[in-house]
Order: sequence, then structure tokens, then C-alpha cells
Amino acid sequence: MTLLWDADPGAAERYDFAVGEISRFETQATMVRALEDNPTEMLVLIGPDVDMDAACQFAELCRVERPELGVILLRRRIDVAVLGQSLRAGIREVITSDDVTGLADAARRSRDLSTRVHGHSGESTSAKTARVVTVFSAKGGVGKTTFATNLSAYLASTGSRVLLIDLDLAFGDVGISLQMLPQNSIIDLVSMAGNIDEQAIKAVVTKHDSGLEAISAPAEPSDADRVPGTTVAELVRVAKRHYDYVLLDTPPAFTSHVLAAFDDSDLLILIATLDIPAVKNLRLTLDTLDLLGNKKDSRLVVLNRSDAKVGLRPEDVVAAIKQDIAVMVPNSTAVPASVNRGVPIILDEPKHAVSVALRDLADRFIRVADTPAGAADAAASSQQSPKTSRWSLSRGGNR
Ligand SMILES: Nc1ncnc2c1ncn2[C@@H]1O[C@H](COP(=O)(O)OP(=O)(O)OP(=O)(O)O)[C@@H](O)[C@H]1O
Ligand SMILES: [Mg+2]
Repeated sequence: MTLLWDADPGAAERYDFAVGEISRFETQATMVRALEDNPTEMLVLIGPDVDMDAACQFAELCRVERPELGVILLRRRIDVAVLGQSLRAGIREVITSDDVTGLADAARRSRDLSTRVHGHSGESTSAKTARVVTVFSAKGGVGKTTFATNLSAYLASTGSRVLLIDLDLAFGDVGISLQMLPQNSIIDLVSMAGNIDEQAIKAVVTKHDSGLEAISAPAEPSDADRVPGTTVAELVRVAKRHYDYVLLDTPPAFTSHVLAAFDDSDLLILIATLDIPAVKNLRLTLDTLDLLGNKKDSRLVVLNRSDAKVGLRPEDVVAAIKQDIAVMVPNSTAVPASVNRGVPIILDEPKHAVSVALRDLADRFIRVADTPAGAADAAASSQQSPKTSRWSLSRGGNR
């Protein structure tokens, strides 16, 4: 397949005789996304009416990000100035738009060259794969939604594309915690099962001021049963290609949706609190995860309200669950106060001890570039910058 950047709906038909199957896109932004979705694509055509400067800027970006990709420019008239500018931008060939034979030859030459360049550079690595993080506890009210919303808002505030999915399908409160008014929910994706794509996700997300995008739980609790686990799995799989981070808030139970989320997660954040039922449930959760074959190094335990004076100490929790606690988040009335204001505390009061602890959790264990999700690896590479789209410079472009 060849990707064509051209606003004319009839353009694909004009050129497919010369280059084979074509997918046409109207803007630079959609082209960029198509390239991210097609990491093995070798040929791009830029139509005759695309602005010359925009075409060259795009070609320069391709040259840096995907050296094996060939860019062929079509123009109605070719002169020395066009050729010079194209050459400097790394465009492989410039062909007059009515020269179908010339285009076929140029496409063949470009593909030959791409194959050779690809042979030298090895596998293309530009496909995006989000880091998927599930926040879970088998006990209710321990802070899952607080963590999921704050971590997501923080990651989004660093410039990453973040999708937060509310898998607490019956009683999800991601929307209300962020004071958002969702028009759609995950239930709207059910009818698209098998065909969920970026457009479908875009149609159901609600955008928060922090930049994070959220998919809410259905407004009606009774609709929870209408969302199959397979739809969640498909949603996560597709979202991974379009976001830097996908976070999943969960209900306090091993539902089929939660199990689907576990399967797809790079990191599992398990929340404990200083009360015996929570610790007992966490022990059972760890045992269940072991039985499910979940890797130990892809999960970590976080103690919420760690300084609550309730008779149980953090070291008692460590002894009971036989696992270290990665981060301790203190108890503070500022947390429910921030929820009531609808602004995540991590953004509203960044210096607050709760915000500092949550940021530490995100920086050390989530914001890790391209490591296998191991928490140990994550800790070791905590100084690395967050994973962002390699094409992000051009994201704003919509010419
Ligand atoms: N560190 C904290 N200090 C004080 N209050 C907290 C803290 N973390 C969470 N809370 C409060 O505890 C309550 C429950 O938190 P949250 O809704 O995040 O829990 P949950 O695990 O998502 O609950 P559910 O299982 O019902 O979905 C909320 O009122 C929240 O503001
Ligand atoms: Mg919750």
C-alpha cells in the first residue's frame, strides 16, 4: 500500500494504476498518524496541490524519523526552484502529476532503494506502543480512582498523550472526579466491536483541561454487563498505537474486564491501605496474579494513607504480603477536597506531600522510555524522559 497526501477525493484512483493500492489522507496530521499506524510503509506520495513548504517540511521529518521511507512529490509544473527545494528536503523524485508512467518508474526505484536502506537499518521502530498501566485493588475505597486520575493528569501535563479508561463499569467515577461531563462512554464502542479505530476512540473520549483524554463508564450501571471483555481488550490494543500512556481505573473485583486489562498491562499498581481486610485482599490478589501467570516484576504495591494512625504499620503490611512497598502516599484531607473541586491534587497543589509521592510513583515507575515494563528496570531508569511520539513535532500541523 502507498500513502497519498491529497485533498482531492478522486486522486487515489488517478495514481493507483502506477503505484498499486493507495490510502489517501487529507492533512499532514492524518498522514503522520497513518505512518505511525503503518510502520512498514515504504512509499508516500504528496499530491500536486499540497503546499510546497508543507510538503518539504513533512519530507524532512520523514527523512529523520523514517530514512527508509521514500517520498515522491507530484507537481503540475516542475521548475528548477521546485527541484532544488525538493532535493534539500530529501524528496526522492518530483514527477509531473499527469505522468503516470514516470510515476510508476519513480515508485519502483524508490521501493528498491527503500528495501536496501531498510536492510541496513534493520526493523523500523517507529510504531508507537503506549505503556499500559492498571490501577487495582480488590477492596473498594482505597484510592484507585484517586491514583488513576492524578497519575493520568500528571502524565498529560508533561506533554504525553494519555488515555484514562474507567473500567469500573457499574459505578465508575472518573468523570465526576475530574468534573467532566462525558457525552459518550465505553458503551458506545460496543457496537463497533471488531472495528474500533482511532476515530472511534476519539468519538467517545472526553478531554480534561490537563490534556488527558478519558473514556467514561456507562451512565447507567445496568449497562455494565453489555460491555464484553473482548471490547476492552480491543480498545486497549488500538489505544496503545495512538497514546503514550493508557491508564485503567478498575472496580474492586476480578471482573472479565479487569482480567483483560491485566493481560494487556505493562504495569500493575496494586493499592494497599493500613487495614486488615485491605491487606488480606491484597495477599489474595497477589496469589491470584501468580496463578494467572502475571509476572512479578510488572507489578508494584503502593501504600495509600500510609501515615494513618490505625494500629497497623507499613512494616506489618510488608510482612503480610511478603513484598516491598514501592511508594507510600500519606493521608490528607486535601485529597477529598481536591476531588470536590474537580482538580487533581497533583496539578492543583504540586508541593503537597500527596502530590510529591504520586509524582515520585509516576516518575520512577511509569515515565520510562522503551523498557520492558519491569518495575526494577523502571526504578533504575527513573532519570529517563517520558515516552513521547517521535513525530510529535508535527502533531500540530494540519495543513
Ligand atoms: N491519600 C489519601 N488521603 C485522604 N483521602 C484519600 C486519599 N486517597 C484517597 N482518599 C479518599 O478516599 C476516598 C476513596 O478514594 P477513591 O475513590 O480513589 O477510591 P477507589 O479505590 O477508587 O474506590 P472504589 O473502589 O469505590 O472505586 C475518596 O474520598 C478519596 O478522596
Ligand atoms: Mg474508584
